[in-house]
Amino acid sequence: NEHQWMAPGPNDFRGPCPGLNTLANHGFLPRDGKNLSMSVILDAALNGYHMQPASPLVGAVKISTLAADDPFSFTLEDIRLHGNIEHDASLSREDFALGNNFRFNETIFSTLANSNPGSDFYNTNSAGEVQRLRLADSEAKNPSINNTQKEFGIRCTESGFYLSVMGDPLVGVAPKEFVQIFFREERLPIAEGWHRSEIPINDTTLLPLIARIATASNWTSSGGCSVLEP
Ligand code: HEM
Ligand code: MG
Repeated sequence: NEHQWMAPGPNDFRGPCPGLNTLANHGFLPRDGKNLSMSVILDAALNGYHMQPASPLVGAVKISTLAADDPFSFTLEDIRLHGNIEHDASLSREDFALGNNFRFNETIFSTLANSNPGSDFYNTNSAGEVQRLRLADSEAKNPSINNTQKEFGIRCTESGFYLSVMGDPLVGVAPKEFVQIFFREERLPIAEGWHRSEIPINDTTLLPLIARIATASNWTSSGGCSVLEP
């Protein structure tokens, strides 16, 4: 069918976002990863994930227009522009200053993969702990790290996104197997029992999850803006 998973071909654009790459691999977004715009992405997020035009989703699309030369559209590759949305201490990609900031990296991903031991699920507490660990790793290795409120807000949103689209968006609990397939294969784990959330994902569901993840991550800033600190 038209939404079957297909690996991208050599001329198809992909980038640092597993959520959008997955939508393209299933044909909810153009499979070539090009000509993306607000309406194209909002339609795909609704059809693929039952994600309504939540403020972090709309905001991400607005910011992404700045990453492209074309004023009306961008590609999945454009959005890897470092410092636009793309940030350090990602869950599954290397820091820009240390390597490839847009391709899946199993070593980086192992922190998330191995989190919440003894359970078959990830939740907001484990997501926060993973963010704390990933940040500590980047702080130790990356002298050019950017870690301000801006990056922190984006990172918490992305954790809220994977828990919501792969799990129950009301409680923020997602099966490990589904989350791992989503990151590693950029595939909807339909064969494994996943289905699109029956509950719409929107600000009402997302914002409380993001806030809980933020608290659980025990975050402090590093680098940047030090002039403002005593
Ligand atoms: C990163 C999910 C929508 C742009 C991420 C990450 C997740 C995610 C889980 C973290 C990857 C990592 O840390 O390794 C989703 C989901 C979406 C969505 C489920 C729902 C449709 C969007 C939109 C945009 C976007 C609309 C912009 C148009 C990005 C970018 C990154 C990213 C640039 C890289 C940030 C980084 O890790 O450095 N996304 N996303 N995403 N997303 Fe999305
Ligand atoms: Mg990154």
